[in-house]
Amino acid sequence: MSEGPLALGVLVSGGGTNLEAIFGAIEARELSAAVRVVISNKAGAYALERARARGVPTCVIDHRAFAGREAFDAEIVRVLRDHAVSCVVLAGFMRIVTSVLIDAFPDRVVNVHPALLPSFPGVHGPAQALAYGVKVAGCTVHFVDAGVDTGPIIAQRAVDVAEGDDAAALAARILVEEHRALPQALQAIAEGRVRVDRPAEGRPRVTVRSR
Ligand code: GAR
Repeated sequence: MSEGPLALGVLVSGGGTNLEAIFGAIEARELSAAVRVVISNKAGAYALERARARGVPTCVIDHRAFAGREAFDAEIVRVLRDHAVSCVVLAGFMRIVTSVLIDAFPDRVVNVHPALLPSFPGVHGPAQALAYGVKVAGCTVHFVDAGVDTGPIIAQRAVDVAEGDDAAALAARILVEEHRALPQALQAIAEGRVRVDRPAEGRPRVTVRSR
């Protein structure tokens, strides 16, 4: 069953090109959603400018002002609820989130990661892929669980590693695929085509029905 337009809360730390891709997809009517609030842990994140340029409410929550991750996440949850958010997107959000956030939005916290998980979780996906010598890299969109980049996978897109690639060049090509994969995954959620099954044994699995 279709969920209807998603009320998105987008968490960012940096440049916000994935946020821009979400705005672009909404404006192109490829994504049935509205960004209700953009939250950054960094005051200087350029993503905030992108939100302001569209009149979208922004909020800076500095993680350093909190005693621990749970207290930080509790404040994030408060702001997300204030804006009636139904689905949370981690779009270049460089903090590890806790069950405080995850349990507040069950199966509705989505992360985009610049590697083909489960390879190369963490903060330097493209550089690690390059250092390992893989020939195919890419990005992953997944639901967030209690681990770091371990949650059930919604979508992945691959990128060939080119001879002479450095981490920045590879990351830039992966980013292009993120900008496709993330809005598409969100639209699949909006259309009610994404199901998470939790078998008694083994990992939870996501099924994305085609249209
Ligand atoms: C993206 O490549 C995203 O996958 C990555 O940070 C970049 C943010 O770009 N996230 C992580 O590495 C999370 N572990 P953006 O701010 O331009 O969207």
